[in-house]
Amino acid sequence: MSELATAAATAPAVRLPPPARVPKLLQGFGFAMARRTMIQRMARRHGSVFTLNVPPFGRAVAVADAQLARQVFTTSPEELGKVEPSLDRVLGEGSVFALDGNAHRQRRRLLAPPFHGKSIKNYESIIEAETLREIANWPEGTPFATLPATMRITLNTILRAVFGAEGAEFDELRRLIPPWVTLGSRLVALPKPKRNYGRFSPWGRLDEWRRQYEIVIDKLIAAERADPNFEDRTDVLALMLRSTYDDGSIMSRKDIGDELLTLLAAGHETTGATLGWAFERITRHPDLLAALVEEADNEARGGGNELRQATILEVQRARTVIDFAARRVYPPVFQLGEWAIPRGHSMIVSIAQIHDDPNVFPDPERFDPQRYIGTKPSSFAWIPFGGGTRRCVGAAFANMEMDVVLRTVLRHFTIETTSAPGERWHCRGVAYTPKDGGRIVVRRR
Ligand code: HEM
Repeated sequence: MSELATAAATAPAVRLPPPARVPKLLQGFGFAMARRTMIQRMARRHGSVFTLNVPPFGRAVAVADAQLARQVFTTSPEELGKVEPSLDRVLGEGSVFALDGNAHRQRRRLLAPPFHGKSIKNYESIIEAETLREIANWPEGTPFATLPATMRITLNTILRAVFGAEGAEFDELRRLIPPWVTLGSRLVALPKPKRNYGRFSPWGRLDEWRRQYEIVIDKLIAAERADPNFEDRTDVLALMLRSTYDDGSIMSRKDIGDELLTLLAAGHETTGATLGWAFERITRHPDLLAALVEEADNEARGGGNELRQATILEVQRARTVIDFAARRVYPPVFQLGEWAIPRGHSMIVSIAQIHDDPNVFPDPERFDPQRYIGTKPSSFAWIPFGGGTRRCVGAAFANMEMDVVLRTVLRHFTIETTSAPGERWHCRGVAYTPKDGGRIVVRRR
């Protein structure tokens, strides 16, 4: 008997969580149009684990329970692997999102170092410079949306991290990446038509931008290779060009293009959106804002940044921009708590729902950074970056980036406070942003 057949024979009987009592068509419509709200309503009705049938995942188990989420994230990637379909539908098969098992491990080994520890310290001054450049033009005394600015800061930052020094090709990438990410995020969950309807159709437009992107990447690769200091370069592209896998092979040109696009897309929209929410939140919390300003001023005299860090954590909890992380069941049956989930089912860990759980975060509607003063959040309940072997590669980088941007703004501007109701959620396809773009009124200090 083969190993697989033995496993199948000894697997426990399937026992699925309660099914969502909504017609499949309506589930699909709800998931596509109002994912967050739909999961929230279903969790209220069915509890913290329930079964869905939604395009594009098909049969899936929604997990809105921190303990079970912990189990999902700590299970080996051989049992719970890459979900199908995933962002690689638009990013390409060379993206880390597309990889599983050993190929995924190897790619993570390559990608992780430049976004961790000491390496990211070098980016602090770049981020501060990018922020100063952007806020130089902020209008005084009139409301404006911070989101376009935070998106530009985060895009410029990730471009510089990925490619090193700024080059002429950057303008071209600044022109191509934002609309590509906006359209790609919308198309990722939609079926791709078999026929090509040309460059005026959405998929055609995405392909055309992709073609233009690849031309720029060719130029950047040629420039890096021609650099006499190529061997000493620490940017991500140089690392990719120099890297060799365990078997001695190198990253293909296609994989490099896909992975660079992955980092540019994953690295800028999420961080920019969270920063937009940060401004949306602090302008509505006068005491917090005053304390943050005082802290930023004291920091220049050697003080710490505990409150700002706690604020970033709370923004990420209360205004989670990526609402779920997903995996796929590989063994014949996967035991999740009391449930037995069959092969092929997707597991959708509802990050947003877990962040709203009153058993884990008392009074979850209250925006309160004090939750984390003197204590760290649980790494299994506070999960804006997902978890386990696929946890966000850029988590430390994003945290440092948000910290520097907020610190720089607080030092240069007084942000006016408002008692206006909080902004609503806007889904851009993948990430959730504040609907009005995180509007604030500022005066130069
Ligand atoms: C506040 C900002 C960010 C948020 C909220 C965020 C969130 C996430 C989430 C939820 C995942 C999926 C994790 C999982 O499946 O368990 C993820 C994956 C990923 N993120 Fe981020 N991210 C952020 C910033 C960044 C940055 C700055 C980068 C690049 C430097 C980045 C690169 C990636 C990559 C490459 C993956 C795929 C990891 C894999 O599949 O192994 N992200 N991110």
